[in-house]
Amino acid sequence: MTRKIIIDCDPGQDDAVALLLAFASPDELEILGITAVGGNVPLQLTQRNARMMCDLAGMQHIPVFAGCAEPLERPLLTAEAIHGTTGINGVDVFEPETALQPQHAVDFIVETLLAAEESSVTLVPTGPLTNIATAIQREPGILPSIERIVPMGGAMREGGNSTPSAEFNILVDPQAADIVFRCGRPITAMGLDVTHQVLSTPERVQRIRALGNPVATATADMLNFFDRYDTKKYGSEGAPLHDPCTIAWLLWPEIFEGKDCNISIETESELTLGHTAVDFWNVTDKPVNTTWVYGIDAPAFYDRLVERLDRFGGAL
Ligand code: RIB
Ligand code: CA
Repeated sequence: MTRKIIIDCDPGQDDAVALLLAFASPDELEILGITAVGGNVPLQLTQRNARMMCDLAGMQHIPVFAGCAEPLERPLLTAEAIHGTTGINGVDVFEPETALQPQHAVDFIVETLLAAEESSVTLVPTGPLTNIATAIQREPGILPSIERIVPMGGAMREGGNSTPSAEFNILVDPQAADIVFRCGRPITAMGLDVTHQVLSTPERVQRIRALGNPVATATADMLNFFDRYDTKKYGSEGAPLHDPCTIAWLLWPEIFEGKDCNISIETESELTLGHTAVDFWNVTDKPVNTTWVYGIDAPAFYDRLVERLDRFGGAL
């Protein structure tokens, strides 16, 4: 049984790998559309980068939509220092053949969900939550059709990567995150506590490069660029592969570990803006709204990622 998904992203090298992993998994995932949001780099680049990945993977038929360029209430915060000025430094950019749909991403999300059966579409946001929150605000009638929301975002034990308290996707649009985490639909959140266990070490990048097909080579090239910032910042051997954890959870939930708890978003304090208050020990009476994922079998993740990327060398 394939799961219908909408991937909402801000490519970003790790978003790009998440897209490629989803493209390589047609038996499990039916991608209804890809929606781009301003985040790692401005919207005109994130939508272009998403379409580039469709071209690279031979997935030109997948509809790509541009969404919100700016967060709900704050100016856009970007991350060129990590992702480079193109957003996917490591590969040469080109004008993709994959079309940019004329419809706004939020209208696509609303229209698709209003027409969908109950609990039939999974939303996979790997950037700031502006598009998702705007769709919910504009048309709360879409909520019953959402099977689950699987965002990459937040942090608890790992602390923030953009401020001491906040992870980037939540910090960019904390108001949007607050709307999403309060929406009442099931949420399985992949925060830094799990993504920081999934490091693209030189050995793992070399395994990907050794596959020898153009998609794997481009992935290795993107990871080689993406690694340099985090390796310097954390002293780790390789950058965390944040966004592919969302797709990997859809494919192989058994390699993850999580706990149901309440997550609330700081939307006021300048000191801790965008903080995800994860009530891991249920010390408040706030309702459980999230499965907070904190564990992963990282070797198994990479074995399976390599197997899926290898598929681009044969019949996909
Ligand atoms: O904090 C990591 C997240 O921010 C990832 O989604 C990365 O692509 C950036 O968007
Ligand atoms: Ca992202």
